[in-house]
Amino acid sequence: MSEYRLTHAVADHRGDLLLEAGTVLDREVMRSMADGATASIRTCRLMDFNRVESDLNDFFSAPPYDVIFKGAGRMRALLDIAGEVTMPEPLLESLYHFRELDFYTYRHTLLVFALSILITRELITDRAAMIQEVLAGPVHDIGKRCVPLEILTKETPLTPAELEHLHHHTLAGYVLLSHYFRDPDILAAKVARDHHERKDGSGYPLGIAMDSLTTDIIMVSDVYDALISPRPYRKASYDNRTALEEMTRQADAGSISQTVVRVLVALNRRSRPQFSQCVLSAEQRGTPPEDNVYGTTQSNEKDGPK
Ligand SMILES: [Fe+2]
Ligand SMILES: [Fe+2]
Repeated sequence: MSEYRLTHAVADHRGDLLLEAGTVLDREVMRSMADGATASIRTCRLMDFNRVESDLNDFFSAPPYDVIFKGAGRMRALLDIAGEVTMPEPLLESLYHFRELDFYTYRHTLLVFALSILITRELITDRAAMIQEVLAGPVHDIGKRCVPLEILTKETPLTPAELEHLHHHTLAGYVLLSHYFRDPDILAAKVARDHHERKDGSGYPLGIAMDSLTTDIIMVSDVYDALISPRPYRKASYDNRTALEEMTRQADAGSISQTVVRVLVALNRRSRPQFSQCVLSAEQRGTPPEDNVYGTTQSNEKDGPK
C-alpha cells in the first residue's frame, strides 16, 4: 500500500460521519475536511481539564515512573512545559472518555505525554518546537475513539480482523486531529498517523522507513509504556530492566531510535548521567513476564504496542 486509505469510517465526537471507509487521505481530502469544520471549538489547557493533573501525579508514584519523574527540578520543568499545552475541547473530552471506559488507554496516553516531555527536553532546544512535539503525546492514540471498546479491552490476543480494526486508530487519529485543529499539517496529526511506523519500515499503516525525530520520541515513549504497563490481555507486565533490554534490542535491530532509547536509559538512572554517555550493559539480565503475549495475535502475527 502506498496511499493512506481508511479501512473503516471516521466519525467525530458526536458520532457524525467525517470520512467514509475506503476514502484515500490525499491532500485535497484532508484540506477540505479540515476547512469544513465551521462550528467554533473552544480550547482548554490540558492540565486544567478535570482530574488530568492530579491523575498524572498519581501515575508518577508507581515504579519505574517514580524514579524517572523524581526530583523537584524535573517536575518543575515538566509542569512548566505541560502547562503550555492547550487542546480543542472535544479532544480533551475524548481523552477523558477513556478514563471511564478504557483506563489503560487514558493512563498510557498521559504517561507517554509526560515521558515525551522529559525526552524532548534533552533533544529539542527550541521552545516552540518543543511544545509542538509534546502536543502529540496525549492525543497520539485518540483515533481509538473509532475502534470498538470490545477490541480495546479484549483480554485475549486479537484475531487478524480485530487487529486490522485496531490499526485503524492511526489514520483515524490523523483525521480527527486534522479536523479539530483545522490543520492537516499539524505535527500532532502526523505523529498520530506515523507512531506505529518503524525506522526500518516494519511498522504500519504504510510500512515506510520513518526518519523523524519527533515521531521517534513518541514511538519510543509508546513502546516503553506498553511494555511496563498492565494490559487488558496480559496478566504481568515487563519489569523495567527487561523492558529496557527489549528496547535496546529493537534499537540495535534498527526499528526504533538508538538516541532516544539512550535518553530513556539515562532518565532511568538515579545518578542522572548525560544521555550521550549512557548505554545499557550488553549483559541480558531480564526475563520477559510469564504468559508473555507481547507481539502475538491469534494467528501469531506481530502486533507490538497498541
Ligand atoms: Fe497507537
Ligand atoms: Fe500508544
